Amino acid sequence: MCGIVAYLGNKPAAPIIINGLKRLEYRGYDSTGISIFENSLQVYKKAGKVVELDNLIGSKEFTSTIGMGHTRWATHGEPNDTNAHPHYSFNQSLSIIHNGIIENYNILKKELLNKGYEFSTDTDTEVLITFIEYIKSEANCSLEEAVRQALTSIDGAYAIVIMNTNNPDQLIAARKGSPMVLGVGDGEYFVASDATPLIEHTNEVVYLKDQEIAVIDRDKFRIINIEDEEQTPVIQQVELELDALEKGGYDHFMLKEIFEQPNSIADSMRGRVDAANGNLTLGGIREYSKALANSKRIIIVACGTSWHSGLVAEYMFEEYCRIPVEVEYASEFRYRNPVINEGDIVIAISQSGETADTMAAIELAKSKGAIILGVVNVVGSSISRVTHEGAYLHTGPEIGVASTKAFTGQLSVLIQIVLNVARIKGTITESKFKELLTELSTIPVKIKEVLESNAQIEYISDLFKDAHNFLYLGRGYNFPVALEGALKLKEISYIHAEGYPAAEMKHGPIALIDEKMPVVFIATKDSSYEKVVSNIQEVKARKGVVIAIVTKGDQLIPAMADHVIEVPECHEALMPLVSVIPLQLLSYHIAIMRGCNVDQPRNLAKSVTVE
Ligand code: G6P
Repeated sequence: MCGIVAYLGNKPAAPIIINGLKRLEYRGYDSTGISIFENSLQVYKKAGKVVELDNLIGSKEFTSTIGMGHTRWATHGEPNDTNAHPHYSFNQSLSIIHNGIIENYNILKKELLNKGYEFSTDTDTEVLITFIEYIKSEANCSLEEAVRQALTSIDGAYAIVIMNTNNPDQLIAARKGSPMVLGVGDGEYFVASDATPLIEHTNEVVYLKDQEIAVIDRDKFRIINIEDEEQTPVIQQVELELDALEKGGYDHFMLKEIFEQPNSIADSMRGRVDAANGNLTLGGIREYSKALANSKRIIIVACGTSWHSGLVAEYMFEEYCRIPVEVEYASEFRYRNPVINEGDIVIAISQSGETADTMAAIELAKSKGAIILGVVNVVGSSISRVTHEGAYLHTGPEIGVASTKAFTGQLSVLIQIVLNVARIKGTITESKFKELLTELSTIPVKIKEVLESNAQIEYISDLFKDAHNFLYLGRGYNFPVALEGALKLKEISYIHAEGYPAAEMKHGPIALIDEKMPVVFIATKDSSYEKVVSNIQEVKARKGVVIAIVTKGDQLIPAMADHVIEVPECHEALMPLVSVIPLQLLSYHIAIMRGCNVDQPRNLAKSVTVE
């Protein structure tokens, strides 16, 4: 959570930082601020989005060629002007931006209060910068050394950048647990939470490792670790197109990303799926593909939408590979002393590759000897770097906070992994393998067809935009889709929604059904179709309003349901890739009609780098 960006070069820093913050707003957007050097260290900050900061600065023409900015997702202290970053140290000689949590800040704060220091905010970050100032004055050392010493006493996670009023030609940056990338331009340097603010300036980056400190001067930079050992920076090229970070004519990133899915799914298969010749190559999982096929058990760890795609993967792995699978919320797994055996396979699914709980679950499993495979979207992200092997989604940057194309990208990559394993294991016939591969290659066209129902879905959305509750029901492969549909609706429209296995309805949710309750059934033609039909009848018998996602040509359910949205026929294991699309559009339109900010829903953030 929180986005950070900093600049040191020969151009005015403020516009570069503000633009960078706009790119990072997906990481948090409850307050923003900037620190620059105009004869002295100055801080401008404001509750709200980056646009508020832009208004605050107005037409001020800053000449500072050094600066740093922050967009916040509050952890300690309410999101107001005071708690917004950057923070000054006690005597205002230093300023800091921080993404992460300092867990032992209370102890440090007490010690500093005893020594006479005072604090003007409720944040852990102000404690850290004041602690650094204290060490600097006590030890009479350089800022670099004070930062290094301070970080040896810090518990928690941080990506920080610090400015010093006594040296306006230097930035000090450091990370542990929170992401940070250093951009190396022509006579200029950048620091940011990810590469998106940098790519219009440079594509040469250094990914800082945990417990590394970058000392950036105008003409050079160095990296040391917190043991004070000099590190050799590895400069890498990022391949990220600027266009991918723009809305491209759509009103919102979410809508753009929904409509991108025919292409993003094709991208997730490019160079891997060769349906015509029955070939499937996953270059990222080679060394461990046999271990995966021979594994006695697979554990999937993930959060949010990625956890939902893990549930679909469970069904696929068990059906086609006959390997038992457990799908775990990473946040539960990491704290419940799970049984992990040497050689167990853990698959970590994450769009951002930065989710703190997923990262911690991986570390735990790794420490017990598990083999970790990643299914990640963001290239070079922290998770992608700690896994043994993995497969990227290749679906391009996802900016809307509600995940859409990453979900379908994950499903596409997971079925590819499943088919590969099933083939190695011999648990799938060659004809079934080819059938599924061919079916997978037709998914982009099928999604395109569903997207043509956009106007009809908008019409249905209008009828239900004022509902207070929604129920989403599905069985088998469509059960995780029900969960995902409900999550999409609540996160962006703030309507309470629950996803349930359709048959479980009678054990509780059925009590909620009356003539005001919209019930969305994902009721496509599959092995549990007849059972779902019975569940629809149960809802109709209690006067519930049924919106059904059905297979094209179905005549039975349209005769019972109040509204139907058709999707093309599809193999049931791949149906979630198709049946989720109308649910994404339904939540998008309802949220827009309710005046919600779909790309930046309240209280949420795209990348959750705190536990
Ligand atoms: C946040 C996002 C969700 C996402 C979840 C897991 O809650 O808002 O869209 O599903 O984190 O993120 P990850 O990047 O690990 O998939």
